[in-house]
Amino acid sequence: MKILVTGGTGYIGSHTVVELQAKGFEVIIVDNLSNSTIDVLDNIAKISGKKPLFEKFDLTDPVITSAFFKLHSDISAVIHFAAFKAVGESVENPLKYYHNNLLSLVNILQGMVENNIRDIVFSSSCTVYGQPEQLPAREDTPVQKAVSPYGNTKQICEEIITDTSLTANIRGVLLRYFNPIGAHETAFIGELPLGVPNCLMPYITQTAIGKRPFLRVWGDDYETPDGTAIRDYIHVVDLAKAHVVAVERLTGGICRQNVEIFNLGTGNGLSVLEVIKSFERTSGVKLNYEIKERRAGDIVKVWADTEFANRELGWKAEKSLDEMTESAWKWELALANRK
Ligand code: NAD
Ligand code: WQD
Repeated sequence: MKILVTGGTGYIGSHTVVELQAKGFEVIIVDNLSNSTIDVLDNIAKISGKKPLFEKFDLTDPVITSAFFKLHSDISAVIHFAAFKAVGESVENPLKYYHNNLLSLVNILQGMVENNIRDIVFSSSCTVYGQPEQLPAREDTPVQKAVSPYGNTKQICEEIITDTSLTANIRGVLLRYFNPIGAHETAFIGELPLGVPNCLMPYITQTAIGKRPFLRVWGDDYETPDGTAIRDYIHVVDLAKAHVVAVERLTGGICRQNVEIFNLGTGNGLSVLEVIKSFERTSGVKLNYEIKERRAGDIVKVWADTEFANRELGWKAEKSLDEMTESAWKWELALANRK
């Protein structure tokens, strides 16, 4: 089966391509390389032994996207990762985010409908839950008004897929990721943040390697056991494997509804200080960090109820926090050796 992976040279996409290839799927990537580089294709091939097919274009272009689908009407399913994802930038430039994230999805669905391609897996986010009143967050926990245009694009995209499925022959699996971190064990692929990272894990590894002077821990006065905020960090390889299961579920016709939603997390809430301690343990590097004021817009704590995903998908995140921080560090070292 041929699977279209949009955003397949990106962080989560590249790990998913490797897992799809391991299961015998043929992969075609579409990416405009706005946040990734072409050498990822060779690095995927170093792991899997097979370079995926690749087309470079912008999915917001309706003409090119339509022509692509016409040419590749033998695609069995789409995994749609391609999007902009920087929360802060989306506040500064909302139209950039609405334009990219919404138009891409509309063009893809149009191409699917026109060519009788039924199945789509969509990258959603735990950001749709905001700060839930009850934890852990379940798939039926009410979605809250998004605090950023980025978060809003995820909510609207979920609705676009759901609405489309009501009248067109479209079926979707919406995967709500918690906090993906880590890298492939080979260190051939990983996260490549452009500029100064916002997210915790790349900031930790860049500090440890000397690119940043110190990590700022945003607040230690939260109502949590050690005062720092809590998230559900999940190894990117575990996350990638869930996409293969989702594709098999869709193409195997075993979905219970036209659109299904699953949380992808470990179910464990971990504090910022716990992540730092794990990093120090697995890398042997003492991290330079300072406690600062709370970061605006941060929620206090969130973690996933994974019961539904575990039961329905027969999938469970297996990798430990130490495996996450160890692989992230190995990746940062590999990046340093490349230059
Ligand atoms: P990424 O930036 O590494 O990958 C996205 C890829 O999409 C990039 O390679 C980029 O070049 C490409 N792209 C963007 N717009 C495009 C367009 N218009 N046409 C063609 N290609 C385009 O991001 P990621 O971390 O791998 O995230 C993948 C998806 O998962 C995104 O939809 C993101 O919103 C979602 N997500 C990510 C996280 C996270 O913490 N990384 C958490 C929840 C959800
Ligand atoms: C994690 C924790 C910070 C950096 C973001 C998006 C969300 C989703 C996942 C896509 C928080 C703390 C961080 C630093 C710190 N992405 N931190 N110092 O904010 O949970 O979620 O990524 O959908 O939409 O908002 O992730 O990695 O930025 O932060 O203390 O330099 O680490 O305060 O508690 P977040 P994060």
